Amino acid sequence: MNYFKKSSLFPFPFLLLCCSIIVFFNNGVVNASHKVFPELQSTSTVDVKNVHRTGYHFQPPKNWINDPNGPMYYNGVYHLFYQYNPHGSVWGNIVWAHSVSMDLINWIPLEPAIYPSKVFDNYGTWSGSATILPGNKPIILYTGVVDANKTQVQNYAIPANLSDPFLRKWIKPDNNPLIVADVNINKAQFRDPTTAWLGRDGYWRTLIGSVLGNKGLTIMYKSKSFMKWKKVQHPLHSVDDTGNWECPDFFPVLLDGTNGLDASYNGKNAKHILKVSLDVTRFEYYTVGTYDTKKDRYTPNNTSIDGWKGLRLDYGNYYASKSFYDPSKNRRIMWGWSNESDTVDDDVKKGWAGIQTIPRKLWLDPTGKQLVQWPIQELQTLREQKVQLSNCKLEKGDKIEVKGITPAQADVEVTFSFSSLDKAEPFDPSWADLYAQDVCAIKGSKVQGGLGPFGLLTLASKKLEEYTPVFFRVFKAQDKYKVLMCSDASRSTLENGKTMYKPSFAGYVDVDLTNKTLSLRSLIDHSVVESFGAGGKTCITSRVYPTLAIYDNAHLFVFNNGTEAIKIETLNAWSMGKPKMNWSFGHSSY
Ligand code: FRU
Repeated sequence: MNYFKKSSLFPFPFLLLCCSIIVFFNNGVVNASHKVFPELQSTSTVDVKNVHRTGYHFQPPKNWINDPNGPMYYNGVYHLFYQYNPHGSVWGNIVWAHSVSMDLINWIPLEPAIYPSKVFDNYGTWSGSATILPGNKPIILYTGVVDANKTQVQNYAIPANLSDPFLRKWIKPDNNPLIVADVNINKAQFRDPTTAWLGRDGYWRTLIGSVLGNKGLTIMYKSKSFMKWKKVQHPLHSVDDTGNWECPDFFPVLLDGTNGLDASYNGKNAKHILKVSLDVTRFEYYTVGTYDTKKDRYTPNNTSIDGWKGLRLDYGNYYASKSFYDPSKNRRIMWGWSNESDTVDDDVKKGWAGIQTIPRKLWLDPTGKQLVQWPIQELQTLREQKVQLSNCKLEKGDKIEVKGITPAQADVEVTFSFSSLDKAEPFDPSWADLYAQDVCAIKGSKVQGGLGPFGLLTLASKKLEEYTPVFFRVFKAQDKYKVLMCSDASRSTLENGKTMYKPSFAGYVDVDLTNKTLSLRSLIDHSVVESFGAGGKTCITSRVYPTLAIYDNAHLFVFNNGTEAIKIETLNAWSMGKPKMNWSFGHSSY
């Protein structure tokens, strides 16, 4: 059986098939900002278009979703709440939808847990977090909007019945709000409380994202009782000229190993991560740093750039993430929202908008300079049909097709090797001021290089009218090699809506090339390609809307368009199954 296929339209005319293949039949601007469309608030979803719906990512059956909220593990059950519009597929009418799971893969939908109903949240129930209090008592902190001027306060909610295994009903007691902005705070930009952590002094702390002038900041509050909160006079951290900070996340990570830590942990063997969602750029930035518990101040390491050029959790369509500690598997897990890249009109027509990315385990890289993220191990339970390639050489222009799986709904892991770095192209010094994304726009997958571009062509139509390449390109800068990783949506669809967002997302990968290998994993799922470079050091999520490369007409290729030959050491690709995803409805809110 020939599992490889060559297409003459892509500029890779030659193909060397000196590789073995095993097929297993074991069956086993991101434009994410919440524009309000008043005229669409009463436009209900009448019809749901399936073609770009995902197979194994978290989605409700219809309507708009945004931020993951209050994720937690409680008595054997994972909870995910999320910002949801029960009435339509644009942002608005936001409630806390609620789903539960035993494995983070199959999800049972429940009634919305929190929705506007009181003076302290009548105009909105926005994002927030869960904390498990001593005595095993969960509590949610969330932002309530109290008037038409968008005045924001922080509220709490508690389960009505702790013996209900799913914690279906939540109560918002009358002593809300817990936290109200003082005169020095911009009360219209004051939101998204973090999971609280307990200091050795017996005080709980939480952070609220905000902005003063153009300075982004995390305002800190302290409380002994969890009910009466006092503002700490200085923010935990702030950075000039970064605009509004949304959805802060603050947690410890071990210096060694991949285990996670509870938010309240503080020891010499740990560092802290501060992550914020920058409203202006709609990307997620983080720093690795030190938390001084006595002064309640956070200082990023000098290896972490503290601003727009800093590290991003994901260089693509990913925002408002939130992490939690999972004590059952001793790990920290991060959820993130991936908004659509299509137009509002498209969303209304589709009847849905937004997905959550696959939950990622995260830990500190051994260099101590950055995080590493990897899809949770449970995802592997969805792996079905498997194809394996090994020892395949790709000369300049070669391209091979990976056949025998369902390329529209797949998990692909590949390790590439090369015998020399000599052909790496010089890194143009003028690019130093550019973002990786700009360099990728100049040096796309079709621009022939030295060492790279090589990688995957995902969601590709047979004749490559459409494809989303995910690839590496190695440059030689003055004193070191620079590895660029791109996930390029510019040729992902023939659809040409004027406002369709088709960026060439990219990030650099801080990886040691001594052993001359680079690895890539891509989770492909109809309209999303979530990619992890070098074992999860650089992550990029793209949202794409192929018109030809859909269902069984989608293809997957491996390519090399550099003069240095590339070897596929191993490639494992699986068709992915479909979990039970929010489909059995016992209520009418959806
Ligand atoms: C982030 C965000 C939060 C806010 C929520 C409203 O996407 O703007 O800051 O709480 O969405 O839905």
